[in-house]
Amino acid sequence: MCIRDRRGPLGAIKGYASLMLEGDYGQVPKEFIEPLDIIFRSTDTLTKTVSDFLDVSRIEQGEMKFYLKNFDVATLVDEVVNEQRLNFKKNNLELRLKSEKGEYIVHEDKAKLKQVLINLVDNSNKYTKAGWIEIGLKKTNENKLLFSVKDSGVGISKETLPLLFKKFSRAQDAQGSNILGTGLGLYVAKKLIEAKGGRIWAESEGKGKGSQFYVELNLAEQTTKV
Ligand SMILES: Nc1ncnc2c1ncn2[C@@H]1O[C@H](COP(=O)(O)OP(=O)(O)OP(=O)(O)O)[C@@H](O)[C@H]1O
Ligand SMILES: [Mg+2]
Repeated sequence: MCIRDRRGPLGAIKGYASLMLEGDYGQVPKEFIEPLDIIFRSTDTLTKTVSDFLDVSRIEQGEMKFYLKNFDVATLVDEVVNEQRLNFKKNNLELRLKSEKGEYIVHEDKAKLKQVLINLVDNSNKYTKAGWIEIGLKKTNENKLLFSVKDSGVGISKETLPLLFKKFSRAQDAQGSNILGTGLGLYVAKKLIEAKGGRIWAESEGKGKGSQFYVELNLAEQTTKV
């Protein structure tokens, strides 16, 4: 890894920890491997927290910038699934892919949509102790797509459901658990999706009964080639 590619102080900490772990500065003494690995992984978490706080400030100041272009959501979903596959494996969760074949061209900010999808997939992984996670993509009509993440996890109570997308909102059991999180992911996700005319929502039959998260987006108008 090239440290120059990693921007900012957190990137430098993570980059150098990674280089040391990979042995670029000589063989690492056995007792240093675990602390270095903790530095590496904690920096990752901290980077995400800092980035969520920056997003919240930008949203609230009306300064969030969107870089829109046409792209295929099916390809993006594949990318997210492949990046997260290892995390499902670590938790022994069965990954079910239920996307309907085809292209799903939208005119959106790709990086921001990826951030939203990662948070939903990461949440399902964090809040499912055993069982499965199902990721789906389909067209609901001519001009809308529906992305879904369903899981067999801890579920969400009727009382908590309307609060999930609020800032710092975490279910009681999430707060008490050792699952890391600031409760900003869904707040940011809702703002990002709604800013461009999409919808995001959650459903659950209750605690212990799994959860379903949905994102509905407008498909880009396609010019038909004659
Ligand atoms: N798939 C899920 N199953 C059960 N509860 C969930 C699920 N996804 C989210 N939640 C609940 O919604 C809360 C808010 O989610 P959100 O993504 O905003 O925060 P977080 O994951 O706790 O932290 P982070 O800011 O790191 O994303 C979670 O703390 C959890 O209580
Ligand atoms: Mg989250």
